[in-house]
Amino acid sequence: MRKVAVGAAVVCAAAVCAAAAVVVRQRMKSSRKWARAMAIVKELDDKCGTPLGKLRQVADAMTVEMHAGLASEGGSKLKMIISYVDNLPTGDEKGLFYALDLGGTNFRVLRVKLGGREKRVVKQEFEEVSTPPELMTGTSAQLFDYIAEALAKFVATESEDLHPEPNKQRELGFTFSFPVKQTSIASGTLIRWTKGFNIEDAVGKDVVQELTKAMHRKGLDMCVTALVNDTVGTLAGGRYYHPDVIASVILGTGTNAAYVERTSAIPKWHGPLPKSGEMVINMEWGNFRSSHLPLTEYDIALDEESLNPGEQIYEKMISGMYLGEIVRRVLCKMAEEASFFGDTVPPKLKTRFVLRTPDMSAMHHDTSPDLKVVATKLKDVLGITNTSLKMRKVIVEICDIVASRAACLAAAGILGILKKLGRDTLKQGEKQKSVIALDGGLYEHYAKFRDCLEFTLKELVGDEVAETIMMEHSMDGSGIGAALLAASHSPYLQEEDEEFY
Ligand code: GLC
Repeated sequence: MRKVAVGAAVVCAAAVCAAAAVVVRQRMKSSRKWARAMAIVKELDDKCGTPLGKLRQVADAMTVEMHAGLASEGGSKLKMIISYVDNLPTGDEKGLFYALDLGGTNFRVLRVKLGGREKRVVKQEFEEVSTPPELMTGTSAQLFDYIAEALAKFVATESEDLHPEPNKQRELGFTFSFPVKQTSIASGTLIRWTKGFNIEDAVGKDVVQELTKAMHRKGLDMCVTALVNDTVGTLAGGRYYHPDVIASVILGTGTNAAYVERTSAIPKWHGPLPKSGEMVINMEWGNFRSSHLPLTEYDIALDEESLNPGEQIYEKMISGMYLGEIVRRVLCKMAEEASFFGDTVPPKLKTRFVLRTPDMSAMHHDTSPDLKVVATKLKDVLGITNTSLKMRKVIVEICDIVASRAACLAAAGILGILKKLGRDTLKQGEKQKSVIALDGGLYEHYAKFRDCLEFTLKELVGDEVAETIMMEHSMDGSGIGAALLAASHSPYLQEEDEEFY
């Protein structure tokens, strides 16, 4: 009896020891995994580092590329496209104009009634239409027919008092936010697609002609009087309200900037330009690349697997189309190499572009004590359940690293433009204001990104110069800007002038 009891006690003790050993092993295993996961985050943080010195190098490289892009065709990754916009809105524009704003997953059609200096924008109506994803990689005719049809429907809602006079055509400002080699203010050929569009038969074609043909097919009688990039539209829209606007930056699905250059600084090969005057340049800065950019393995893999490998490297580190995807790639590595979300990799986490930047932003801005938003997004978007608070905090940290790098790099880009214009230092006795018009969903809705961008630019230029620089949100400026440019380039305006003289 005693022996049995002793035997049972020994067996029990052995079982307890074994169980304890399993627990200890598991703990060790999970602490090893946690350490591995933290090492991945630490490495990301190190590689994404953007100390001011590095940002200054990026800014300098941007200025150098601006010079090189202007100096010769193909001289730089920056196309530095002449926009043919040499007179920005003054406020005197009058009449009814349409605008079509195409550049991302949605496009917008607008109707704007301009009332001149006193009344400004008298009336403005718009509609937003989403572009079916299959049209982003279909044929040119399919895309433009779809757009022309939406435009025709919108025109049909025009009230009677706005109808044009019998012998006048309706006029349209066309914001087409892709790299286009402009041949005049109202014509230009598509250089290549960006932002997930890839319609091969449109490359090399005049996009105004493509749109005009589609409008004819849809029975719409309208004339395109201005073709502009969204940066150029935003600059024009900004200048309409603020005479000190000197540059514009789009931070949305893609990223790009435009600025006002002195024509005397533009080399002759660009063709005849007035000797003294101004010209808006569309930089296409999304394609900027420099050895100073803090690239990571995630950026390299994202680029290699993209529709446009080797292109738009700066854009792929900064813009809304890509930030969520970078975070997803980091989480994927943590799942694969550190079993961060359990023994198997959550299947949804492997889907490219499943984590969108607005979801990343929602996680990044989560202020609830238990990070409820992070938990919900992980569950709904990535199918990841049962995360601890500690894990969720790590995810917020990853969002912070990726968004801060993007914002800092954008700030460096802006400093590059200010340097090119000699506005990064104070001239003696001069306190000229430099206003930068900004727009795009990333800038508008991602508050931590916006704050970091503004803070970093201030740090880069120093307090005194910072007082002369203003960042203005130019809401939907690109559409209004296109309408304004359509107004200032209207053929009827010329007729009026001719009649007058
Ligand atoms: C992409 C386009 C560019 C556009 C920018 C912002 O970079 O190439 O033309 O301005 O996105 O929409």
